[in-house]
Amino acid sequence: MLANAPVNRRIVLVERPASGFEARHFGLMEAPAAEPGPGQFRVRLTHISLDPAMRGWVTAMRSYLPPVEIGETMRALGAGLVETSNHPDFPIGAAVSGLFGVQDYAISDGAGVEHLDAAAAPLQTWLGGLGMPGNTAYFGLLDVGQPKPGETVVVSAASGAVGQIVGQIAKIKGARAVGIAGGAAKCKALIDQFGYDAAVDYKDPAFAMNLKAACPNGVDVIFENVGGVVMDRTLALINKGARIALCGLISMYNAEQPVPLSNLVYVLRMSARIQGFIVFNYRDRYDEARAQMLDWYRTGQLRFVEDVREGGVAAFPSVVPLLYSGGNMGKLVLKV
Ligand SMILES: NC(=O)c1ccc[n+]([C@@H]2O[C@H](COP(=O)([O-])OP(=O)(O)OC[C@H]3O[C@@H](n4cnc5c(N)ncnc54)[C@H](OP(=O)(O)O)[C@@H]3O)[C@@H](O)[C@H]2O)c1
Repeated sequence: MLANAPVNRRIVLVERPASGFEARHFGLMEAPAAEPGPGQFRVRLTHISLDPAMRGWVTAMRSYLPPVEIGETMRALGAGLVETSNHPDFPIGAAVSGLFGVQDYAISDGAGVEHLDAAAAPLQTWLGGLGMPGNTAYFGLLDVGQPKPGETVVVSAASGAVGQIVGQIAKIKGARAVGIAGGAAKCKALIDQFGYDAAVDYKDPAFAMNLKAACPNGVDVIFENVGGVVMDRTLALINKGARIALCGLISMYNAEQPVPLSNLVYVLRMSARIQGFIVFNYRDRYDEARAQMLDWYRTGQLRFVEDVREGGVAAFPSVVPLLYSGGNMGKLVLKV
């Protein structure tokens, strides 16, 4: 290690939360940044992606990735620039993204790391619409939801990283897009910024009635990000042969008692299909999504909103809880 190595600050998990994230669940460590070995490179992170999945990653339950262990650097997707390199495919200055963790500097051998086109879009956008959330919207809607022109697509957490894009793709494909979000300001943004045909506030006591009014022809596709009561009320409106793309269940991530679904019976009566999916299943097709999303973005058919927070790595414990209280609008990103 060089004597003049920069300081790397990183966030480690110190305790598994029983419900929501609190500052005491994390610790801040500082040490000189490691030097890359043969075949490795060092990335100086510029942005860290904050994702609802983080709550699942710190839980010791069976999942698609092993849990983050106590004392380990908190897992996170990030973007940055290669600063020092012993790897021919990742020269100094290259813009990259990968699972670099919540830290200032990451060492990598290139496994799972993607090159980013910094001229096409800012790095923060490569963590949002042109990155994992964009891929989630693209494959979840088109592969799992399969909307047809004229059908009604209902999207929950519709103003968030994934939801804002699902509605726009649904519109591109000729469907009617109905978004669900918390509060009047977010519902206004669904219409004004993200092109939804209708917006429904799930915090309004008349939510179920308003949702029904917003879907006069019933619901053909549910892009489910929330679960619980929001999902249950939407299930009551599904048409025969509806597809439910189960993307996320954020209302349940911190809940000690999950809300039972009383309207599951409509899945049976309407011969509907519920399918869960994880974006990483589609890794082999990311190039397809990236090319299409870039084209829609360049031609102005897709717009992406990022909610970029300052404060660097040390701010992670105070910023990540925003995801679970509706404190973000668009893709939540921490600037390093
Ligand atoms: N399957 C996959 O591969 C995959 C990949 C990425 C994301 N996801 C899932 O997709 C969902 C959205 O992720 P995202 O990254 O786009 O996050 P996001 O929507 O940008 O942020 C989370 C939003 O969820 C809403 N929310 C939080 N707690 C809620 C509750 N108790 N009830 C109702 N709404 C609540 C809030 O919006 P309001 O203000 O509207 O309440 C909040 O802003 C999450 O469930 C996530 O786990 C899945």
